[in-house]
Amino acid sequence: MANEVVDHSRRRFLTAATAVVGGVGIVSAAVPFIKSWEPSARAKAAGAPVTADISKIELGQKVDYAWRGLPVFVVNRTKEQLALLPSLDPRLTDPNSSVDQQPSYIKGVDRSIKPEWLVVVGICTHLGCVPEFVPVIRPESFDPEWKGGFFCPCHKSRYDLSGRVFKGVPAPKNLQVPAYHFVDDTHIQIGVDPQEAG
Ligand code: FES
Repeated sequence: MANEVVDHSRRRFLTAATAVVGGVGIVSAAVPFIKSWEPSARAKAAGAPVTADISKIELGQKVDYAWRGLPVFVVNRTKEQLALLPSLDPRLTDPNSSVDQQPSYIKGVDRSIKPEWLVVVGICTHLGCVPEFVPVIRPESFDPEWKGGFFCPCHKSRYDLSGRVFKGVPAPKNLQVPAYHFVDDTHIQIGVDPQEAG
């Protein structure tokens, strides 16, 4: 697990973990200084997949992984959070994910392969800030009926816990869902479709 940022609610912790790509552990920040790792670094820059170990992500927690220079949020959603998603549809710009912001196998309100696991690119679709993870279901200053989701501090765009954007905010689209698949019950490979993985 490389380049991993654990975000417990609003606090972020940079961990010293390594992401495993094709069985080789790499800390990308160190790569420019270690010549023998250059081929892997190049491969990563070109979009090599990233394998995320999700076994330690607790219920309700988000962990970030770096993929193609982008943060990818992986969230372990609770049953309560999932149950609330359909009730948000009337407040959303694209509740059915009609706009092409996800692979064709990502459907439904949960926008995922396994409902509990959300995998989205953590880049606001307005001007590219990184939205904050605000998972607690409670009234917030930016939304008195907040049911958990992502809040972009740059210009106050809001997304639900499926990365679906709210109406009346600057961001025009839902958060992007990258290609990914489950290698097994505790590992996700980001950047490779299930079909491609065979
Ligand atoms: S960049 Fe997120 S609201 Fe503008």
